[in-house]
Amino acid sequence: MILLTHGDREYLREPGEELQTDLGVVEIPADAGPGDVLETHLGEEFRVRRLRGPDLFNHFERTGAPMLPRDIGLVIGETGIAGGDRVLDAGTGTGVLAAYMGRVGAEVVTYERNPEFAEIARKNVALGGVAENVTVRTGDLTDDVGELSGFDVLTLDTEDAPDVVARADELLVPGGFLAVYSPFVEATREVVDVAREGLSDVRAVETIQRELDVDERGTRPSTGPVGHSGYLVFARN
Ligand SMILES: C[S@@+](CC[C@H](N)C(=O)[O-])C[C@H]1O[C@@H](n2cnc3c(N)ncnc32)[C@H](O)[C@@H]1O
Repeated sequence: MILLTHGDREYLREPGEELQTDLGVVEIPADAGPGDVLETHLGEEFRVRRLRGPDLFNHFERTGAPMLPRDIGLVIGETGIAGGDRVLDAGTGTGVLAAYMGRVGAEVVTYERNPEFAEIARKNVALGGVAENVTVRTGDLTDDVGELSGFDVLTLDTEDAPDVVARADELLVPGGFLAVYSPFVEATREVVDVAREGLSDVRAVETIQRELDVDERGTRPSTGPVGHSGYLVFARN
């Protein structure tokens, strides 16, 4: 898959396909690749790009609410996820977090209990080019925790995260990291309480990002809505 862009517009297509918009028709060559500029029959130009992480967030078919790229950045930065790491993830949802982790080279096993969501996530990770190292398992992670071990990082974005956090010391290698995302402060408190029983370095953060308004009058933090997205709990085995 490639992206065809014109200003703010983006269209996902396979090379060899046709793109029809109000700007005209583009016959996409079978060998079209990043950097190419294609013209519609009306003379409008489309640039060709390959997909990168933020494009996955925008173009994956959505099921469960995906994590924002900035929160994924925190997960990767705080846990140090790197090439070759074994990561256990739940729930897959749209698969954006799982695909990002796959793109940095981690071997990801991700659980999704909704079979339809799992099927869509498999297509999404294939679109993201990481089907080789992201395995989507259909099932409830809490049913399988007793059979899993040896992971470098455990990432959870589920309401029942505390049940898995209670077994995190068995799932993680010594020194391995836990990262739990939650939209609610009550759930975050519960995760912290359970994590403190078996893990170390437990801390919780709220993730906020304020945009800057940059215009001819000056530059200042946006007076728009506070850019709150959720809470993250980190801990170490
Ligand atoms: C908020 S979404 C996850 C989004 C994902 N982190 C992303 O970036 O796209 C939560 C998903 O977890 C799934 N889920 C909830 N509890 C689960 C469990 N115990 N095992 C497996 N999947 C679970 C839900 O069906 C839902 O699709």
